[in-house]
Amino acid sequence: MLKRVMEEQQNEAFTGIENARKYAEEAEKSSKMRFGGFLKRLNNLNIDGKYLEIGAGSGALAAMIAKNNKDIDITAVEPSPDMITVANEYIEKENLISQIKFIKGNITDEIFLEKLGKYDLIYSTLSLHHWDDPQKTIMNLMELLNENGVLMIFDLKRVWWLYWVPSQSGFYKSIRAAYKKHELEEMLSSINIDKYKIESIFPFFLQNITIRK
Ligand SMILES: C[S@@+](CC[C@H](N)C(=O)[O-])C[C@H]1O[C@@H](n2cnc3c(N)ncnc32)[C@H](O)[C@@H]1O
Repeated sequence: MLKRVMEEQQNEAFTGIENARKYAEEAEKSSKMRFGGFLKRLNNLNIDGKYLEIGAGSGALAAMIAKNNKDIDITAVEPSPDMITVANEYIEKENLISQIKFIKGNITDEIFLEKLGKYDLIYSTLSLHHWDDPQKTIMNLMELLNENGVLMIFDLKRVWWLYWVPSQSGFYKSIRAAYKKHELEEMLSSINIDKYKIESIFPFFLQNITIRK
């Protein structure tokens, strides 16, 4: 019942400079709705230091975080070269080059992860449902946290009332590929993580996991 359906050709939307520009435009236009719930929780944690963003896309969120706190340095990981081009243009325009560094990489690549160093906060938004092996990835990311570090993963939630919309648009496909709360709980339990909180976020097809080291 309401089984998870992996997105096919999931990377299409992030490949090609025109697609990347379109994504960036939409992300910026809807940034409040998209990132508001995540930013509220992040601000409440009040974490200074080094941040790592996974699947950073067009850089809209990294820019919002960097503008809000000039003492934070963000390393932003993104596999799509087109997204990185668009993100770097945006960061330059916003005068944030000294705070945000985009690097090309895929979190399934453990050798790449090992070279990243350690962070006070690792976060990711709207990317989890694309990851091939989320358990392994989460375990690997926990290794990159400093003592008392926090991992925040914000993503869509598979809700029945959006699942059945017969639309072929990317958004609905993403909803069908997202996880339910109990699936996240099982995922975390299978890798022996118990210091976490999962919160449902308005408009309730969004959710946030906060994991403490
Ligand atoms: C829906 S976009 C979200 C972009 C941005 N985080 C945002 O919230 O607007 C998903 C992003 O995850 C990235 N992604 C997918 N699989 C990934 C992986 N294995 N490692 C790193 N990033 C990945 C994609 O390239 C894409 O930029």
